[in-house]
Amino acid sequence: MSKPIIDAQNLTAAYGSITALKGVSLSVEKGEIFGLLGPNGAGKSTLLACVEGLHKPNQGSVHIGGINVQSDSTATKRQLGIQLQRTALMDDLTVAELVEVYAALYEVYLTSGQINDLLARFDLVEKRNVLARRLSGGQQQRLALAVAIANDPQIVLLDEPTSALDPHARRAVWDIVRQLHDEGRTIVLTTHAMEEAEALCGRIAIIDRGQIVACDTPAALIANLQLNSMLKATVELPLDQVRSLPDVSNARYTGQHLEMETARPEVTLTALHELAGRSGRSIRDVMLRQPNLEDVFLKLTGHALAESN
Ligand SMILES: Nc1ncnc2c1ncn2[C@@H]1O[C@H](COP(=O)(O)OP(=O)(O)OP(=O)(O)O)[C@@H](O)[C@H]1O
Ligand SMILES: [Mg+2]
Repeated sequence: MSKPIIDAQNLTAAYGSITALKGVSLSVEKGEIFGLLGPNGAGKSTLLACVEGLHKPNQGSVHIGGINVQSDSTATKRQLGIQLQRTALMDDLTVAELVEVYAALYEVYLTSGQINDLLARFDLVEKRNVLARRLSGGQQQRLALAVAIANDPQIVLLDEPTSALDPHARRAVWDIVRQLHDEGRTIVLTTHAMEEAEALCGRIAIIDRGQIVACDTPAALIANLQLNSMLKATVELPLDQVRSLPDVSNARYTGQHLEMETARPEVTLTALHELAGRSGRSIRDVMLRQPNLEDVFLKLTGHALAESN
């Protein structure tokens, strides 16, 4: 393997008495789309902030392209494009002014034509002279991405680039992330949506309670745990009774659905029908699905991705 473009070793980070990272190591190769997947409070933003040089870890080191972030933050920041989770874009600037100002912070001075080209990529040309505060949520998120790459960085760090976007806007951002990747840039993004991690990322680190619990391709994460198929049905039955059905290795409710991990779905389904019959319940919407990253997360951490720490 070549030398990683981002190399974080044994990071510990605390806010007062709260330890947000507990000895995290992470290597990202040039040209990857790398995902940090974890629930609220897992430590994703803190990890990115350490990589960005915006939070000083209590222990450990980060190298970007072989340069130590703590000892030469100016050199490393030049290579980075940063989108923070809550970007407080300066409200009294127009869209074009914002892009210009952010690029200038990196000593990159854009011409009017370059600003237009950049805004065109994010479908914001028409908003060029509009105040940032007058943009919709989705437009602001696209502007935050435009700002993140205004200095033409090789490495782009995106903290929840699609949170609070509708499905259409979310897909538009996914397309932009893929384009940035196609241009040869390295992308690291955080998300708590497993479908986003699966759709975009070549490799994923699953992070929970300040620790990386697994790191691999989405397919390998799923394959390595050798999870069985998941049988899904709409029915209300006591979980302890469902768990004791034949071949069921795990069961839980997700919303209205009962989900059962089972080695032999047909045997389990027959037994489920019998149990429902005895309990006077009816079963609807039966389906079988392959295990996904949500199941991996549950298996590794003992709690669901949607539950915060
Ligand atoms: N500025 C801060 N001051 C005090 N505690 C903080 C601060 N920022 C984060 N924390 C704490 O550190 C832990 C990790 O937070 P972090 O923001 O890194 O999580 P996250 O994975 O990004 O979560 P989210 O998905 O909600 O953005 C949490 O317990 C959080 O409460
Ligand atoms: Mg965060």
